[in-house]
Amino acid sequence: MWPKVGILGGGQLGRMLVQAGLDWGLECRVLDAAPDGPCAYFKGFVQGSPADENDVLAFGRDLDVLTVEMENVCVSALEKLADQGVNVRPSPEVMAVVQDKARQKQFLEARRFPTAPFVFVNNDEELRLAAQTFGAGVLKLRRGGYDGKGVSFELSGPFLGPSIVEERIDLAKELSVIVARGADGQSRAFDPVETFFRPGAHLVEKLVCPPELSSSVLRQAQNLSLRIAEALNHVGVLAVEFFLDKNEKLWVNEISPRPHNTGHHTIEAAYVSQFEQHLRAILDLPLVPSNIRFPSAMINILGVKNGTPEYRGLREIMAVPGIKVHLYGKKIATPNRKLGHITVIGDDARDVAEKLSVIDEKFSVV
Ligand SMILES: Nc1ncnc2c1ncn2[C@@H]1O[C@H](COP(=O)(O)OP(=O)(O)O)[C@@H](O)[C@H]1O
Ligand SMILES: [Mg+2]
Repeated sequence: MWPKVGILGGGQLGRMLVQAGLDWGLECRVLDAAPDGPCAYFKGFVQGSPADENDVLAFGRDLDVLTVEMENVCVSALEKLADQGVNVRPSPEVMAVVQDKARQKQFLEARRFPTAPFVFVNNDEELRLAAQTFGAGVLKLRRGGYDGKGVSFELSGPFLGPSIVEERIDLAKELSVIVARGADGQSRAFDPVETFFRPGAHLVEKLVCPPELSSSVLRQAQNLSLRIAEALNHVGVLAVEFFLDKNEKLWVNEISPRPHNTGHHTIEAAYVSQFEQHLRAILDLPLVPSNIRFPSAMINILGVKNGTPEYRGLREIMAVPGIKVHLYGKKIATPNRKLGHITVIGDDARDVAEKLSVIDEKFSVV
């Protein structure tokens, strides 16, 4: 009944995509290099690297639809598979743009989406010049960074590889919007969320939806996100991270053509989850309105030290209605590694805030 669907990447995002598919009896296959990651438990798991051409070609050969849960995948293999008739969604062209922060910025600039000015940095000398040009700048590795790894506010070096330096925005807030787009051009926007970052780590700690922001900012963020998906001719969900500066101006930070950490609350809080909506988009099924049904928040469960993680207070927080714990089955923690998340839904913002303080008080990772 269903086409054969494969996912490149077997982390928590792949796992939640598989879970959404299972609701329909859709059994996805998953490719990941780690033998013990969040998807290793599934029968459709294949061990191999999404960044390796041969591994991706072998994995994709007899699939109908191939999608991703990460950026760092082999684009030449995607091109070959697309030529062989596999429906590659997102397209190889989109993957080539997004997996390089410089190409992403060039795309955004060319299409006149507001994004912080930037320069290329290819060696120590260019890094030194960029540090002079930008009083306050942000150094970002072009490829392979995630969860703040590869991002630094320190421009004194050393040069670690092909990078960009962009102007540092004087942030009032950070927002994220997830949109979905089908091959026929239909699209839907999830409600924007406000993201809160772990100090020093450039890593999302918490999100709140709906955020306390003017409806005009929220609408603008959704419209920009829909237009970006359109400009990419994207199929699937797309997450757009925004900065809001002190003058209420929105800047596009970065885009990810896949389910995203800032959409986890949609599993419990929205009419459709980002994972189900992604599957709908890539399988040419109807997209449904994706607005939230409950005020909600989500906190990431992050590793604190190296070793086997232990979760304290699970029983206590699991006793509270509207608190939903997700653990990704990662056997080994490292500092700031995402091990799970907790979604909170409530009757109103105060109810959500009260449940968050219960989690704060009772729950910890050691
Ligand atoms: N130009 C900037 N101005 C201010 N803060 C920034 C800027 N670029 C990045 N940051 C901070 O660093 C975080 C991570 O940067 P980002 O480019 O999104 O990297 P990653 O791919 O690791 O998520 C942002 O969410 C923001 O908090
Ligand atoms: Mg980011």
